[in-house]
Amino acid sequence: MTATGLLAAITDLGADKVRGGYSRHGFDRVELELREWFTAEAERRGLSVRADRNGNLWAWWGNPGPDAVITGSHLDSVPGGGAFDGPLGVVSALAAVDALRASGFKPRRPFAIVVFVEEEGGRFGVPCLGSRLMTGAIDADAARNLLDPEGVSLAEAARGAGVDPARLGADPEALAGIGCFVELHVEQGRGLTVPVGLASSILAHGRWRFTFTGEGNHAGATLIEDRRDPMLPAARMVLAARKAAVNGARATVGRVVPVPGGTNVIASSVEVWLDARAEDDASTKAVVAEIMAQARQAATEEGCGVSVTQESYGDTVVFDHELRDRLSTVLGGVPALPTGAGHDAGILAGSVPTAMLFVRNPTGVSHAPEEHAEPEDCEAGVAALATVLEDLAS
Ligand code: GLV
Ligand code: MN
Ligand code: MN
Ligand code: MN
Repeated sequence: MTATGLLAAITDLGADKVRGGYSRHGFDRVELELREWFTAEAERRGLSVRADRNGNLWAWWGNPGPDAVITGSHLDSVPGGGAFDGPLGVVSALAAVDALRASGFKPRRPFAIVVFVEEEGGRFGVPCLGSRLMTGAIDADAARNLLDPEGVSLAEAARGAGVDPARLGADPEALAGIGCFVELHVEQGRGLTVPVGLASSILAHGRWRFTFTGEGNHAGATLIEDRRDPMLPAARMVLAARKAAVNGARATVGRVVPVPGGTNVIASSVEVWLDARAEDDASTKAVVAEIMAQARQAATEEGCGVSVTQESYGDTVVFDHELRDRLSTVLGGVPALPTGAGHDAGILAGSVPTAMLFVRNPTGVSHAPEEHAEPEDCEAGVAALATVLEDLAS
């Protein structure tokens, strides 16, 4: 089956009628349906599927074992995201298994497709949640207490998905069994001009939640000079973020939550989520420090308060050179490019040899409904993944 054919089968799952694109989030009804769909597709291919202690799905071709070749990605999306970010890596893995099987190939090393939970952090705020939990990159208690916008904790959501919340956390056994991990992903900028490439590195990046506090009040009855409106320092912080992002750094505010959120209500507090990325740790932290300083000054000047919580962070990732060279060689030489996007592969790269294959994105748009990859490029991605997996699992 082709990758595009498999993607077409899930086109209705999580389609967002309001935002456009897809809204699929960790352990929500849609992600659970997608997980069921994946399980059925894997089982139809004779793979045996099990969930690990964090709810990540593993579909084994043959018996699980040490030094395994692992491929896969995620099925969740950002709010109103594209069809390819995540699912392309999962369906390409299924299609690559079809191609390998059709050629008579049998893996000599243990081999599995993995589907990580909540890669985007669209529900609980922390990206790469499943891989962070597995590698111990997030404290299990802190993770259990993460809340979604409705106040549902990760612990409750996990329980609803049949995952025992008491067992969430580092999974050294699963990690020790991975010989190497290869994630195929749609490229998310305009960096790739041929159908398939490799990732060289990922920017240092993280998320910070700024909470501005003021005084909730009436929009008509409260004189301008009597207000302590937290939206004002919040707005100034957004502008400060733009100004602080220099020398290739990126700073984005994509989520602002005024409380209580009424048109005729001066907010009592405003949550502003900052996503900041840069070449290295020091540059990223410098950008964030500058934005924090500006936010504090703005809050003071507006008679408001501000507190900041770091919700997630990861230093620059440089993918394993040896594995990348090996992949490039078996693929006959393909370009390697850095990326500003985060991935489960970036989390795993701290523990096991990891590589990424990118499929060309002609629009340069991602995390939006317009995200696109041409069908023939997707099939080139499947062929490349099959070639790489055959080499690694032989
Ligand atoms: C995830 O896709 C991220 O880079 O934010
Ligand atoms: Mn993404
Ligand atoms: Mn992704
Ligand atoms: Mn990502």
